[in-house]
Amino acid sequence: MSEQKIDGGKRTWLIASSCAGAVGAGFVAVPFVKSFLPSERARAAGASVEVDISGIKPGEKLTVEWRGKPVWVVRRTPEQLAELPKLDPQLADPKSKRGGDEVTPEYARNENRSVKPEYLVVVGICSHLGCSPSDKFVPGAQPSLPDDWKGGFLCPCHGSTFDLAGRVFKDKPAPDNLEVPPHMYLSDSRLLIGESKQA
Ligand code: FES
Repeated sequence: MSEQKIDGGKRTWLIASSCAGAVGAGFVAVPFVKSFLPSERARAAGASVEVDISGIKPGEKLTVEWRGKPVWVVRRTPEQLAELPKLDPQLADPKSKRGGDEVTPEYARNENRSVKPEYLVVVGICSHLGCSPSDKFVPGAQPSLPDDWKGGFLCPCHGSTFDLAGRVFKDKPAPDNLEVPPHMYLSDSRLLIGESKQA
């Protein structure tokens, strides 16, 4: 996804809407909000959201609202995944040990911080003071980022940076990695946010 598709809540929701609209033919005419209707089970639980992720292309992000928070679903490319282990020495908590299950559920406590390597699912709220970081998926030197930037997120409020697993870099104001919400896959294309098999 290009960088200009990023900032601000309104813009983010436009992205989410367009991604949802790109899902298979049967869904094209379905309004955005209906793409995220809670499942019956979720309604019973009062909080979970079922998402069709089949329209997310490699390198793109879909934003979904869950409990009033933005949840990002990022489909990472093989190249992006290959960079993650190399970043460990630069990260504050590379193995996601801080914060327990609240920050990283056990099933996501791995190098990719995910159930399926391809998909990152995180709450898009900075662990410092709660700003929403911006996508900085394009690698390379650019303002506020190091010259060897591999792609990730930049919090514009105080400069915290996160890699494409939502792991915070060292010596930044944000103390913790981005939160991985409880989630599970109902199928290859259906993701349920708010519940997990271990719950
Ligand atoms: S709120 Fe993100 S760096 Fe301060």
